[in-house]
Amino acid sequence: MSRAEIAAMRRSYGEVGLDEVPADPFHLFGDWLNAAHSNPSIVEANAMVLSTVDHLGEITSRTVLLKGVTNNNFIFFTNYGSRKGQAIHSQPKVSLLFPWFGMERQVSITGIADQVSESESDEYFASRPWGHQIGTWASRQTNPLASREELEDRWKAAAEKWPEGSHVPRPSHWGGYCVQPTSIEFWQGRYSRLHDRFIYQRSSDQEAVGGTEWEIARLYP
Ligand SMILES: Cc1cc2nc3c(=O)[nH]c(=O)nc-3n(C[C@H](O)[C@H](O)[C@H](O)COP(=O)(O)O)c2cc1C
Repeated sequence: MSRAEIAAMRRSYGEVGLDEVPADPFHLFGDWLNAAHSNPSIVEANAMVLSTVDHLGEITSRTVLLKGVTNNNFIFFTNYGSRKGQAIHSQPKVSLLFPWFGMERQVSITGIADQVSESESDEYFASRPWGHQIGTWASRQTNPLASREELEDRWKAAAEKWPEGSHVPRPSHWGGYCVQPTSIEFWQGRYSRLHDRFIYQRSSDQEAVGGTEWEIARLYP
């Protein structure tokens, strides 16, 4: 595509506004996630872009799947030895972004990531399909891989060790993170680029004790 063609790519956003928001951001998040999940224009409504910062200050982003909202924390699962796992180990501040373009909506979150309990990771791992469990053993996520064949050989070896129907243990290097939000921003696209934005921020006196009081501000688009 030419530069002019790319520059001309734009859409006008709709009339649906966000004028009033509840005191609890998780109520609004739950409503928006439900709406996104039942909207045919949204694929994988629980997909979110996770950004991390490593010990050198390098920022990286990738998509992961939200697997729960528990005690007001956002939960996802991954390989603890991956690039993101190593980054979180040295700097637990992360951001999460839900890009629900088909509904002209976005939710952006900042927060602190921490590993979930072993039992929570075990429980979720046990609920995964057998092939996914075996895939977790096969993958040394983010490490260099010489060939596709090497990956498939590792998958077959794990499948022989734990045949379908047998109990597949969770690898200790794989598990969940919970992200405790420090801010949650809701964005709703509007006409003439006059979008609606509301940001919830944890009250400063509550932050240290993980409180649930939120200050709400409307932002210019
Ligand atoms: C739709 C989608 C969902 C994904 N979900 C996950 C996930 O839940 N956990 C995960 O570890 N990787 C997931 N991935 C792969 C990651 O985006 C990423 O490639 C991988 O985790 C390695 O990231 P890292 O090297 O930055 O650690 C997903 C990718 C896509 C496109």
